[in-house]
Amino acid sequence: MKHEAPLNFALIRRVLAYTSSAKRTRNILFGITILRAMQLPLLAWGTGAVINGPITSGDSAMLVPAVLGYAAFALFTDITFRYRILLALSFGEQVMTRMRQDLFAHFMRMPMSFFTQNRTGSLISRLTSDIEAIRMGVQDALFVSIVQGGQMLVAGALMLWVEPQLFLIVLAVAPVVWFLNRQFRKRQSVLLRKMQESFSRVTAVVAEAVGGIRVTQGFSRQSVNAGIFRELLADHSAHNIGTARNNALYTPLLELNAQFFTAALLLAGGWRALSPEVNMPIGDVVMFIFLANLFFQPFQVIGNQYAVALSAMAGAERVFGMLDTPPSWADADNARPISHIQGRVEFRDVTFSYEPDKPVLHGISFTAEPGTTVALVGHTGSGKTSIINLISKYYLCEQGEALIDGRGLTTITGESLHKQMGIVTQQNFLFTGTLLENLRLGNPDATAEQALEAAERLGCRQELETLGLNRIVSEQGGGISLGQRQLVCIVRAMLADPRILILDEATSAVDSLTEARIQQALDILFKGRTSFVIAHRLSTIRKADQVLVMEQGKIVERGHHASLLALNGRYAQMYTEFLKTGIGED
Ligand SMILES: Nc1ncnc2c1ncn2[C@@H]1O[C@H](COP(=O)(O)OP(=O)(O)O)[C@@H](O)[C@H]1O
Ligand SMILES: [Mg+2]
Repeated sequence: MKHEAPLNFALIRRVLAYTSSAKRTRNILFGITILRAMQLPLLAWGTGAVINGPITSGDSAMLVPAVLGYAAFALFTDITFRYRILLALSFGEQVMTRMRQDLFAHFMRMPMSFFTQNRTGSLISRLTSDIEAIRMGVQDALFVSIVQGGQMLVAGALMLWVEPQLFLIVLAVAPVVWFLNRQFRKRQSVLLRKMQESFSRVTAVVAEAVGGIRVTQGFSRQSVNAGIFRELLADHSAHNIGTARNNALYTPLLELNAQFFTAALLLAGGWRALSPEVNMPIGDVVMFIFLANLFFQPFQVIGNQYAVALSAMAGAERVFGMLDTPPSWADADNARPISHIQGRVEFRDVTFSYEPDKPVLHGISFTAEPGTTVALVGHTGSGKTSIINLISKYYLCEQGEALIDGRGLTTITGESLHKQMGIVTQQNFLFTGTLLENLRLGNPDATAEQALEAAERLGCRQELETLGLNRIVSEQGGGISLGQRQLVCIVRAMLADPRILILDEATSAVDSLTEARIQQALDILFKGRTSFVIAHRLSTIRKADQVLVMEQGKIVERGHHASLLALNGRYAQMYTEFLKTGIGED
């Protein structure tokens, strides 16, 4: 079990800083909260005063005005209550909204490595459930606790003032109530945590089973999945029942305690009212029963709110932990935009690793002259994509230097670079929106006609027109095939008119007929740009100005197709394999 952290005031201050824009609301809210803390005890006192006054003395003329006064104060009390709730709500809403904006913006600034280290699911829960917990803490725990704490003080003070001896009885019971509440909450928090954990296992299984439904059905795993799910559900159900059982034990016990306590007050109060020496007014007995309830209620409420506060603190700790994680690298301070890229790409003895001490690229050097095409060839895992990642400045190399037009990549801002760079990968991604919006990603000002012209130059205008530029597409699809998605991504790159073009296995997911068409489009796309291609097709490789043959993070051979074949080394070997298996030849 996680150790319960006590309240951390530095953290609370930091959360409250998110409301600084609304200082006035905040001050009004605190004022209302304090007012609210006094109102209910004062109403209880008023009840006693009416009984002791007009009722006891038989003053019927005073009864109606006294009760009207009481009613007016009650109305005032509930109007205060309404604004207490409303203001706290808007307060919590502000914290939540601003925090979400900050966190989202922070995520968007992070380099690629951040997203491989943090799973999407956990980033989403930072943004959703953690921030929601903080909101509950701000909006409920803080103000409810102030109201309840204040109410307890005011009720206690009134009792002390009215009948100090009777108040001693109340105080004697306090430890019992406190102890019962504490026991209950302790057990409940353990049980609730188990329940939440079992529930997140349930949802995780659903997500995985549904996400992998093709595999599930393809490998007839339905019954296995159903079995796992059944067990998890049973487990979760057991935890639910455990929580309910705890509740069913303590809640009646707490209520019984309150009733016994009322009985004790009736006895002691009644005796004092009947005793000629004390002669306690009847109204005071009634007032005491009300006040004592107001005095004890906060034990339970504050206990619950304390749990809310703790989960808010845990959420805040995680959220601020994320916000305080600086990007593992950002553009250097002296980085400047590059206005017009010529397209000369050079690597000088570059070494790179994703994880410390596990280099995946060793001493990579090459030069791509503007407008030329470089093909990267090598087995899976040889480091082709890693080279692309460095050219795109998604990662930084730790040794050596990568340059564009003779400028080190570190001195160029990522944004200005990406604006002049087009990337098409195997995992082509379409955002939810129309086809046209997706096409315009790299060139937001382009018109529909320009988009179609770009498609025409690539020889696929007809296809786009059939699909319709206003068709809604999404990450999952939107009724378009893999090949069509790929075409969309290629047109998108064309429309952006990049100086440096990168194709990472862009055509390996489509059938050969579509590929032949895409290939033609690519030849057109390559013209006049520095292009890096990772492809299985020999036709692309044959046309490349320079082929880099990769093996285990090193360039083992380089040159063009013909000279490499003549070398009769690794490339020639791969080429023969290609020819034998038939894949790759067109
Ligand atoms: N995000 C990553 N984190 C850690 N290691 C990675 C990551 N991406 C790739 N690698 C490793 O780097 C090596 C080169 O991968 P990659 O450049 O993707 O190869 P290729 O594109 O040639 O198939 C592989 O051993 C791979 O396991
Ligand atoms: Mg790759």
